[in-house]
Amino acid sequence: MNFASNTFSAVKQSIAHVDRLVVTASAPLEGSIPVSGAKNSILKLMAATLLAEGEYLIHNVPRISDVGLMADLLHAVGCSVEWVKCQPSSLRIVVPSEINSVAPYEIVEKFRASVVVLGPMLGRCGEAKVALPGGDDLGPRPVDMHLKGLIQMGAEIEIVHGNIEATVAGKGRSHGVKGRLQGVALTLEFPSVGATENLLMASVVADGVTVIDNAAQEPEVADLCRFLIAMGASIQGVGTATLRVEGAKHPQSLQAVSYTAIPDRIEAATYLAASGIAGGDITVLNARHDHMVLLLQKLTEMGMRIQLTDEGIRSVAEGTLNAVDISTLPYPGIATDYKPFLVAMLSTSVGVGIVTENLFSARFRYVDELRRMGADIRTDAHHAVVRGVKRLSGAPVKAHDIRAGAALAVAALAADGVTTISDAHHVVRGYEDIAGKLASVGADICAEPV
Ligand code: UD1
Repeated sequence: MNFASNTFSAVKQSIAHVDRLVVTASAPLEGSIPVSGAKNSILKLMAATLLAEGEYLIHNVPRISDVGLMADLLHAVGCSVEWVKCQPSSLRIVVPSEINSVAPYEIVEKFRASVVVLGPMLGRCGEAKVALPGGDDLGPRPVDMHLKGLIQMGAEIEIVHGNIEATVAGKGRSHGVKGRLQGVALTLEFPSVGATENLLMASVVADGVTVIDNAAQEPEVADLCRFLIAMGASIQGVGTATLRVEGAKHPQSLQAVSYTAIPDRIEAATYLAASGIAGGDITVLNARHDHMVLLLQKLTEMGMRIQLTDEGIRSVAEGTLNAVDISTLPYPGIATDYKPFLVAMLSTSVGVGIVTENLFSARFRYVDELRRMGADIRTDAHHAVVRGVKRLSGAPVKAHDIRAGAALAVAALAADGVTTISDAHHVVRGYEDIAGKLASVGADICAEPV
């Protein structure tokens, strides 16, 4: 077996370390701002490479630390991962004929998305040991639906010493050879993104047909489907709540591919929110409006003028917004990941907005930080009431997670004085050069290294 001799890949070395973001109230933003590939898609595409040996190229990959962590994980199970020379946004992943099926705790505990290696590893190897991810700043994050689906497909799963240990008993196979998952009809209790992705990846190498009902319909799930189809998988219902997967007749028939990931709709939303708060006229290059339809409607209700152009999404805003009510829901509803930006926008809007979080119990921690900047926000369980104030004031604040940190940066564009956002390493998990991109349209923001 070609196991990695050291734990870390070289991918992380080229990713910037940022300790603090320093933001000063900015004039209206003007110009164009590019969007990178979707983090929440790329991490899953990287996991999907474990399904088949060969050399993969994934294009439109941002240099963010979560990509570095997934590269470490792939490296730890025997793959080689590197940036392609002269193509700064392309990753080359070489998957050997045999992979190690153990995802070590030291890497897994750093990012929850790592649990999506469970489905492909178990599907390909017939066994997998993946550290059980803990909760995080969004609240408890169980993986019961992932495990239940895999058990229905024939896996035996135990939680031992903090690890998910999964095996598939070999039916009628020679001694020592692990078995193959079986295609079945699955109905998810909730359209979980991660559970859909794990089960999807397991089902493309399972024996027979798997139907996943009440599947997540997020664009990133559809992107993973298209990646798997390019590898040779047979999937029907892409982008719908019912995915029908015909397992490969011979798992070896899947092949390595070259693939370009979709643009990041959450990053695009960040820059649109920035222009809503600071005012101005910007075009978010490469953004896909068809992935953000309800959000764009909300922004229009708030008073922004949104235009779809050949280059992306143009936003014209006066810097004064109207309050609206917001309720997060699975796609095509308003994404929970947009919510911190919307709350930041409501903080200086005219009127009162009621925000309801329906996905993650603890996703209001950044509200305390916005209050430190003068926002008038009351929270009760999964609701927040945001009363717009005329102006925020700059303050030292802390990023608790990726989107919360970015939302504070956006809010700071309309705050008098200077805002310093510490723990900005969270922001780097999901944004390549957020400071440089916002500065390129006139924002007064800089990133300070560790
Ligand atoms: C993904 C995204 C995250 C986004 C979320 C919802 C990645 C890396 N992250 O997270 O940015 O906010 O989708 O759009 O893609 N749940 C269970 N049991 C399970 C699985 C989920 O109870 O087995 C619950 C979760 O605790 C949460 C809800 O279902 O309350 C949604 O979670 P899920 O859709 O699975 O989100 P993630 O895939 O973790």
